[in-house]
Amino acid sequence: MKKQFNIWQRELRMEKQNLKTHEPSMQLLCCLLFIILFSVLPFSTSENSITITNSITNNQTIISAGGMFALGFFTPNNSTNRYLGIWYNTISKPTIIWVANRASPIPKSSSPVFRLSEDGNLVVLSGKTVVWTSNVSANSLTVHSADAVLLDNGNLVLRHGENDGVWQSFDHPTDTFVSGMKISSNIKTGQGTRLTSWVDDEDPRPGIFSIGIDPHGHQVYIWKGDKPYWRSNVYATTFSFASGFIKYEQGFSAYISFVVQEDDVYLVSSISTNTVRTRFTLAPSGRIQLLVWVQTTWVVLWQTPLYTCDFYGYCGPFTICQKSESIPVCKCMTGFDPKSHNEWSVGNWTGGCVRNKTLSCDNGDTFLKFEGMKLPDHAVTVRNKAKSVGDCEFECFKNCSCTAYAYENVTDEVTIVCLNWFRELVDITRNVSIGHNIYVRVHNSEMGISTFLYKCQCFT
Ligand SMILES: *[C@@H]1O[C@H](CO)[C@@H](O)[C@H](O)[C@H]1NC(C)=O
Ligand SMILES: *[C@@H]1O[C@H](CO)[C@@H](O)[C@H](O)[C@H]1NC(C)=O
Ligand SMILES: *[C@@H]1O[C@H](CO)[C@@H](O)[C@H](O)[C@H]1NC(C)=O
Ligand SMILES: *[C@@H]1O[C@H](CO)[C@@H](O)[C@H](O)[C@H]1NC(C)=O
Ligand SMILES: *[C@@H]1O[C@H](CO)[C@@H](O)[C@H](O)[C@H]1NC(C)=O
Ligand SMILES: *[C@@H]1O[C@H](CO)[C@@H](O)[C@H](O)[C@H]1NC(C)=O
Ligand SMILES: *[C@@H]1O[C@H](CO)[C@@H](O)[C@H](O)[C@H]1NC(C)=O
Ligand SMILES: *[C@@H]1O[C@H](CO)[C@@H](O)[C@H](O)[C@H]1NC(C)=O
Ligand SMILES: *[C@@H]1O[C@H](CO)[C@@H](O)[C@H](O)[C@H]1NC(C)=O
Repeated sequence: MKKQFNIWQRELRMEKQNLKTHEPSMQLLCCLLFIILFSVLPFSTSENSITITNSITNNQTIISAGGMFALGFFTPNNSTNRYLGIWYNTISKPTIIWVANRASPIPKSSSPVFRLSEDGNLVVLSGKTVVWTSNVSANSLTVHSADAVLLDNGNLVLRHGENDGVWQSFDHPTDTFVSGMKISSNIKTGQGTRLTSWVDDEDPRPGIFSIGIDPHGHQVYIWKGDKPYWRSNVYATTFSFASGFIKYEQGFSAYISFVVQEDDVYLVSSISTNTVRTRFTLAPSGRIQLLVWVQTTWVVLWQTPLYTCDFYGYCGPFTICQKSESIPVCKCMTGFDPKSHNEWSVGNWTGGCVRNKTLSCDNGDTFLKFEGMKLPDHAVTVRNKAKSVGDCEFECFKNCSCTAYAYENVTDEVTIVCLNWFRELVDITRNVSIGHNIYVRVHNSEMGISTFLYKCQCFT
């Protein structure tokens, strides 16, 4: 029996202690310490690194110290191009986790070279042309001692003497996320990392799907081009998702943590055992998949989007998409009616629903409670204002363009994170394993039509 939970939906409140053990930075630090210790020993220029004096060409590779990963040029099946990549060295099926020159394929005929250039950058050359570069600006004093080492977690790290964090492949992922990596996004700068799918299984060039974090909305998106294709729930605070898989190699747990830390929001993953190989890959189909290597093949343990309601905004505004009930999949929220009954009756849900009765924008409005929901898109975090549930409700209540609010209990009963919405509510799904409650503003006259009636206590 395979035991499996939907990892995006099973949320465990993370304790600070636990978080530490899943922090990649600690692991990385240990790795780096390890490297620094060993770099004073004579075999520092072993086959797991490249220096100013060696290079890689044709079918040469470098192998990480523990033999886990290899770096070199590869040619996908049926392709006429060569790419520099990193792959699992210990499994029989070629599985690439990183590609350098994916946007600049090199014809097979010109034998490309991977080396450290005089300016301290890693470069891929086709003849004399630089087709890919790590593109860091270096202090010339440190460049003479530059080297790049392939770590056993699959990370290629460029060092300039003492300065060991000049560049790393984990900061420039392609389509695959492995333990030790971080997919991050910065609230202030809006900059972050994304995985981008391959065009197809044999073509590493950037495909149309990408996955990354929306730092303002505290959620994960898969985009198709620039349009949302799938969206996670909203994680206003740090969460950890754990999935247990009982079957392969006596079972193991995969963890994903969504970490909110000041201005940085990021995802990290880890696994309870080092006897299985797992990876998250954004497939050319647009699905994010968790895969495990079992004997001779990769098995998909979990993937999304898969079901109707997983697809972003399937039902249109002010609707609830119901995973388990197939007919009808889409329902208007209480207090709302289909925008077009004609379209709705033939199963065209895209128009969604509209308010049954216009808001009065005073005490004539009320909030209806919806339980166990994936929270809608475009949440706005109310900062430093809401100290209580009442405050959160009042924040929303006092501005008539606020359509809904929700809150999350943070570490105690005192601190809450308050979310407000100011637009049409889109992409709401019922029946996520642990959903949230959302309070939606409607006209008072909708009272009595809902068993979830929640009377605003703003002015009592
Ligand atoms: C590597 O390339 C050389 C020459 O290009 C060739 O002779 C050799 O068979 C290749 N080795 C493998 C394992 O493909
Ligand atoms: C290429 O195809 C062969 C035969 O179908 C297969 O064994 C091999 O794993 C494939 N290589 C890649 C990189 O998919
Ligand atoms: C390579 O191309 C041939 C013909 O287009 C096709 O039959 C074969 O399945 C392809 N192999 C792979 C591994 O994609
Ligand atoms: C290198 O980085 C600079 C600025 O960071 C950017 O303008 C330039 O386009 C990059 N060059 C390449 C080849 O990526
Ligand atoms: C949620 O979905 C599961 C199957 O995915 C179903 O068994 C369960 O009854 C559903 N719960 C609700 C409240 O709809
Ligand atoms: C909308 O209002 C009409 C009457 O005004 C009522 O018949 C209908 O049930 C209401 N629909 C919803 C979804 O509340
Ligand atoms: C569904 O309705 C939308 C408007 O809400 C319309 O633009 C679209 O063409 C309709 N789709 C189909 C398949 O009828
Ligand atoms: C209500 O909220 C909107 C969106 O945040 C904002 O633009 C508007 O100024 C607010 N109105 C009032 C009266 O605060
Ligand atoms: C926060 O959680 C505690 C314990 O689970 C609960 O007693 C309390 O009512 C919650 N507070 C809010 C604001 O939901």
